Amino acid sequence: MPYCRQRRFICFLVLGCCLWSCQATSFQKGEANTSPRQRISLNEGWKFMRYDSQPDSLIYDVRPAVTDRNDNKVADSRPTEAVRVTAERQTLKPFILPTANDFIREPSDRHVRPSGNPGQDFPFVKASFDDGNWETVDLPHDWGISEPFQSGTNAEVGGGMGRLPSHGVAWYRRKLDITAADTAATVLLEVEGAMSYAMVWLNGHLVGGWPYGYASWQLDLTPYLEVGKDNQLAIRIDNPPLSARWYPGGGLYRSVWLVKTNPTHIAGWGPFVSTPTVNESKATVRVEVPIQNDSEATQEVSIITRIYSVDSLGERGTTPVANVPTQMLSLVAGARGATVDSVAIERPRLWGPPPTQAPNRYAAVTMIQAGDRLVDEYVTLFGIRSLAFDSERGLVVNGEAIRIQGVNQHHDLGALGAAFNRRAAERQLQILRNLGVNAVRMAHNPPAPELLELTDQMGFLVVNEIFDSWERKKTPLDFHLIFPEWHEPDLRSFIRRDRNHPSVILWSYGNEVGEQYTEAAGAALSARLKAIVHEEDPTRPTTAAMNYAKPPMDFPKEVEVISLNYQGEGIRNAPAYSHLQGINTEPLYPSFREAFPDRMIISSETASALSSRGTYLFPVFDGISAPAEDGSGGDPVTQFVSAYELYTAAFGSSAEKVFASQDKHPYVAGEFVWSGFDYLGEPTPYYGARSSYSGIVDLAGFPKDRYYLYQSRWRPELPMAHILPHWNWPGRVGKITPVHVFTSGDAVELFLNGQSMGKKAKSPFTYRLRWDSIRYEPGSLVAVAYRNGMEWAQDTVRTTGTAQKIALTADRSTIASDGKDLSFVTIEVLDSQGLRVPTATHLLSVTLNGPGEVVGTDNGDPTDLRSLHDPKRNAFGGLALAIIRANKDSSDPIVVRVTAPGLAPAELELNPR
Ligand code: GAL
Repeated sequence: MPYCRQRRFICFLVLGCCLWSCQATSFQKGEANTSPRQRISLNEGWKFMRYDSQPDSLIYDVRPAVTDRNDNKVADSRPTEAVRVTAERQTLKPFILPTANDFIREPSDRHVRPSGNPGQDFPFVKASFDDGNWETVDLPHDWGISEPFQSGTNAEVGGGMGRLPSHGVAWYRRKLDITAADTAATVLLEVEGAMSYAMVWLNGHLVGGWPYGYASWQLDLTPYLEVGKDNQLAIRIDNPPLSARWYPGGGLYRSVWLVKTNPTHIAGWGPFVSTPTVNESKATVRVEVPIQNDSEATQEVSIITRIYSVDSLGERGTTPVANVPTQMLSLVAGARGATVDSVAIERPRLWGPPPTQAPNRYAAVTMIQAGDRLVDEYVTLFGIRSLAFDSERGLVVNGEAIRIQGVNQHHDLGALGAAFNRRAAERQLQILRNLGVNAVRMAHNPPAPELLELTDQMGFLVVNEIFDSWERKKTPLDFHLIFPEWHEPDLRSFIRRDRNHPSVILWSYGNEVGEQYTEAAGAALSARLKAIVHEEDPTRPTTAAMNYAKPPMDFPKEVEVISLNYQGEGIRNAPAYSHLQGINTEPLYPSFREAFPDRMIISSETASALSSRGTYLFPVFDGISAPAEDGSGGDPVTQFVSAYELYTAAFGSSAEKVFASQDKHPYVAGEFVWSGFDYLGEPTPYYGARSSYSGIVDLAGFPKDRYYLYQSRWRPELPMAHILPHWNWPGRVGKITPVHVFTSGDAVELFLNGQSMGKKAKSPFTYRLRWDSIRYEPGSLVAVAYRNGMEWAQDTVRTTGTAQKIALTADRSTIASDGKDLSFVTIEVLDSQGLRVPTATHLLSVTLNGPGEVVGTDNGDPTDLRSLHDPKRNAFGGLALAIIRANKDSSDPIVVRVTAPGLAPAELELNPR
């Protein structure tokens, strides 16, 4: 029994992780000193070329004609049925499908490669082709992000996909150095993500590929290698237009590796490490090791796994804390087998989320020996923890109920686009941690593997999600086109890749899918996907997020953890929403609880509250939640949404409406807010913009006012108070200008120019204190917050003088010169007293003196259509961001200089190391 079901809860005792990027690291003392497995980065030195239109006949499959190009649709529109088309000419699909075979369970469903070698005469696949005039790029590379934004209603790419040309066909070419020493090696290409429909040729041979852009996949290059020579790798990417509801990015946007092993090696995504029993005094670690024998003879191998503790930086201890009993396996040529065994660990250091627990990890070092010869070694980082999904207590980690304070995150990294960067992702998590976030839902696709390394290391809880659509479509050319052939391999490979991460607590195999509407058929498909997940990982439950399915319908019956998008607190059911068309539901927490008393309920999406940081529009809504509309929270001319933080998407609810609903239903395990950060695309409600308005944090990483509202709830012990709006309103003297305060205290006294505006205390189910009849006069606002009658925190906002100077602050001024590390420099426009001028919009120019590069700039304004790679940037709300990278291998200082007409410039020194 992989997990035990009892009344009221399902408990999942978990787990380990195969951090396959940690493979083949150094041996411990007493072991052999060379690893037979090499994992070589292929991130540098690619040649790249992108076409504007469909240039060749090397297509994966034909696609339906697109008749509806409108991408300005409310996110909870009903998904529609697929349009099927039949290919009239040969496509490459039959040659690509066999790549999936390792992830298809039924042998009869596996694909046989047809004869032939499509594309062999195409010039780009040939070693002799001269790509000298192609662009040279390093990976991760997103070809869309450096392009100009497309503006206007007739743009080829509209707001929905971020106004950047992520679509089209492109080629990447690179040589591989395969030496005589590789004669007997098995050589794999490992791609962490290629957006999308990747097809790979080596030395003119079509090897295979993978269509889903968020998948990680491996290809066996061995049959096509030419040993002792430069080998020519050519990858064709074909990213469809209108294929997403957000900016997907384009190209080889995550890392690519060459993995060289002995023919007898640990297969696929490595061992599966789980922990079937966990308590404070003892845990059982179960290690399953898949082994492939690609040699031409039977192999007798022994499998040795040693467990080490790992420190917070990922360094392993010198002595094993436990040894899994050695196993023997005999594998005939070409066979795959697996061993399974367990070992106990005394007094385990458990993995759990801070601040009450610590994310301790272990490493399982697995060695395969043939006689005395070490033939493979694989390091699997994992954590030991128990999870229970309790219908009363919510999520229970190692016996402690942990309220989920989560956010949804899309995969882009703002000005860096989809190109994964570890430091940029870590910075996002740090900003979220400071807010009090303890959980992230990967909306709506597998994340970069390194992001899960970070969540493991930092102790975030993760809902790992794979699909935004199944058979029914949300956009004309989305995943539904390949769902029939690829849902099984995508799902199995996703779980095998990620199932050992201690941070992953739940698998979500769908978000708001159209099959919610198709009754028994939709539920049956859900059951099939759920079964696949459990075959690959019996240690965690599954879910699929529901914004439409209701308790009496078929769909929820299959959903193990009830994940509600917006339905818990009700959709379009408050008075301010009554005029709107679309899904309309009362708060559904109670009816789901009644129908499924044994299941944990979580809100997988809440809020969809909208705002442009630092912009305030008048009059201010006097309730707590209203749809952002022209003239009410929204300005159609500037395309700003008011930062009073009361306005939402048509189906959304303000932060406070959600808080009240959750507090009235304390059995709900918590929430994942839509969204933690703003992201490129889906700029509801103004599709002329480039990026979303829903983030608690803007696209540049600057907190909006809402940040402090969530912080006041999620970090109740942090003494804080936050006043809004800013106090520079020369045109509003004498006019009603409401002042609101967020605080972790229970009461606030507000002073305007030293005069008390009254002390107000929070009442049940209210989360902000508001003074709605203040008449503006310049000067200062001071909020003095109290808790239990004692002074607790203060905030002050002042009317500033005119903008005079620039100030720079780096998040880190010492950075690695590894070609990847980044410094995020905040640029502020200040008055003569050093106060940030909240209305400043100066055009700032960033220049560097020294060996570095401005890789992007931003200001968090969704309407700013200046290229994110432009070193010039207007301040927005007095702030802008410059992202700086040091040149590789140079340790000379870099001086960042920022100038603007009429302002004293500023300089800052960065020190690469
Ligand atoms: C939800 C959807 C998300 C996003 C969000 C926008 O319905 O699941 O992907 O579109 O709305 O507010």
